[in-house]
Amino acid sequence: MIGIFDSGVGGMTVARAIEQLCPEYPLTYFGDIARTPYGSKSPGTIKKYAINNTRFLLEQGAELIVIACNSAASTALSTLKNSYSVPILDVINPAVNQAAVISKNGKIGVIGTRATIKSGIYEQGISRQRAQYQVFSQPCPLLVPLVEEGWLKKRETKMILRRYLHPLRSRQIDTLVLGCTHYPLLKPLIVPRIGRRVHLIDSSVEVAHAVLSFLNTHTDLAEKLYNPGKESRFFVSDLTETAGHLAAHIFGRPITLEKVNV
Ligand code: DGL
Repeated sequence: MIGIFDSGVGGMTVARAIEQLCPEYPLTYFGDIARTPYGSKSPGTIKKYAINNTRFLLEQGAELIVIACNSAASTALSTLKNSYSVPILDVINPAVNQAAVISKNGKIGVIGTRATIKSGIYEQGISRQRAQYQVFSQPCPLLVPLVEEGWLKKRETKMILRRYLHPLRSRQIDTLVLGCTHYPLLKPLIVPRIGRRVHLIDSSVEVAHAVLSFLNTHTDLAEKLYNPGKESRFFVSDLTETAGHLAAHIFGRPITLEKVNV
C-alpha cells in the first residue's frame, strides 16, 4: 500500500487528492497530531519525527512513501531517501515543476511554515528550472495551528491571512505556491486576499499527479499496490475531536482515525 505522512491532518488534502486520482490503490495515512506543528521546530527534531513516521508506515507494509508535509520534505527528504530503499515521493518537487511552467511574468510567491521557507527549497528548485524567475517567500507560522483548530472561516484567520499576503500582493506575483499541505483548506480565504488573477499551486493536486505518473512508469510496483477492494486506514498519534471533524471535511465522509503510539 501507499504510505503517507504529515504532522497532522493537513496531509489528508494530499491523501484525498491521491484517492481521487488513484482510487484502486489503498493508502495508509499517519498524522503526527501529538507533535504538530513541525514547521516551528528545529531541522534535527523534524528529521527525527520524519524517520519515526516513515518507520511506522513501513511496519504497516508501505511500499511507496509520500511525504505529505513540506516542513518534513524540505528538511528530511535526502535523509529518508538515503536511509530507506522504498521509493519516496514528496510534495515539493511537483509544486516547483508546476509553478515554473505556469508563471508567465516570472514572479512567484511561496507561502509555507518557517521551516520550509527557511530551507530555501522552493527558491532553489525554481531557480534550477528558470534562473531568471524571482521567488518571494513568506513564512506563515500561525496558519497550521489555525487549520488544526478548525478555524477555516473565522474573522481572525482572514485578518492574519491578509497580513501575511500583503507583502506578496505588492510584488505583482502571478503564481502563488501553497507550500504547506494545510493551506488548501484555506483556499476560499486566500483567493480573494491575493487576487483572483493569481494562479494558486496546490501541492496536494500536484503530488497526486506525480504519484499517478510514478505508478504508470513503475508497473511492477503498481501491480503489487493495486488492491481496489481494500479500505484505506488513517492513523494519528493523538486523537482529538477537531481532527475527526477536519478529516470528515476533507474527505466529505466520516473517517475513522486510529490512535497509535509512535
Ligand atoms: N502540512 C505541513 C506542511 O506541509 C505542516 C507543517 C507543520 O506541522 O508545521 O508543511
